[in-house]
Amino acid sequence: MGDELLKVESLRVHYPVRSGFFNHVTDYVHAVDGISFTIQKGQSYGVIGESGSGKSTIGQALVGLVEATSGTITYRGKDVTDKRVRRKLKYNKDVQMIFQDSLSSLNPKKKVIDIIGEPLRNFEKLSRKALKQRVLELLQTVGLDEESLYKYPHQFSGGQRQRIGVARAVATKPKLIIADEPVSALDLSVQAQVLNYMKAIQKKYGVAFLFISHDLGVVYHMCDNLAIMHRGRFVEIGTREDIYQDPLHIYTKRLLAAIPQTDVENRENHRKKRQALEAEYNAQKEDYYDKNGRVYPLEEVTRTHFVALRKE
Ligand SMILES: Nc1ncnc2c1ncn2[C@@H]1O[C@H](COP(=O)(O)OP(=O)(O)O)[C@@H](O)[C@H]1O
Ligand SMILES: [Mg+2]
Repeated sequence: MGDELLKVESLRVHYPVRSGFFNHVTDYVHAVDGISFTIQKGQSYGVIGESGSGKSTIGQALVGLVEATSGTITYRGKDVTDKRVRRKLKYNKDVQMIFQDSLSSLNPKKKVIDIIGEPLRNFEKLSRKALKQRVLELLQTVGLDEESLYKYPHQFSGGQRQRIGVARAVATKPKLIIADEPVSALDLSVQAQVLNYMKAIQKKYGVAFLFISHDLGVVYHMCDNLAIMHRGRFVEIGTREDIYQDPLHIYTKRLLAAIPQTDVENRENHRKKRQALEAEYNAQKEDYYDKNGRVYPLEEVTRTHFVALRKE
């Protein structure tokens, strides 16, 4: 309890679907359909699943960009589903976001000093000189130099831009950074570099991360704990070892098999394993999902490892 930072309980976000001449609500998309997890102070938590599984909606609900249909979000012991409570707790300062597409999330008309300086200006009273000094320090922690201060986003490479996004997110010394597919738009060779800066920042500032990705390969070094998400629910949660060494849900196994193999000699083996998994998945789908195609409730396997399988 003592080190608990954020606790999400039975969170649901159902989007209304409107159709017909009168534009009535005719259905709901169950984007997030009853998920629970806890992030400890300074910890990194991964939410992994394919596109459309509801990952971004979790992030958006956590920062108040979409409203929760039901469930609770507790921050440092207080229910922050209410906007007024969030304001009082300075929640919007403490919880920052990094997005996938830095070109559209960084204002193209602003110089780097103003982009990174903006959250500082909003939350702290600093002199012009002190502000510049702080921005400079932040730039240095992500490996950028003084010259960057007066440049515009388009003058940087994708990897550098994402590092600027990281510097901005950490500017207000947040307690939690939600990183939604932060390296998915980058070349493989640049991904590791950006991730390393994120790790360095986590160490330096003791900030917790919620790391959202579709790729289990990318997050291996980033996350202490992981939740595997499919169809709005968690199919499996566990420590890094639980998920990578002992995956139990077929969906987790498929995500693991989807990690690209760099090892040329093992490629053929890997391909065969993948095919076998696909065959198993197609043959046993009904064991993993209920008759409506929904994920079963999570059941405890060990104290850290939970999986959603049909009860015998
Ligand atoms: N604003 C919205 N209105 C209606 N449906 C939405 C909205 N945002 C997302 N969805 C739907 O919710 C589901 C989950 O989306 P999302 O959270 O973006 O998934 P992910 O980030 O895992 O790709 C998808 O089916 C998506 O089409
Ligand atoms: Mg998304």
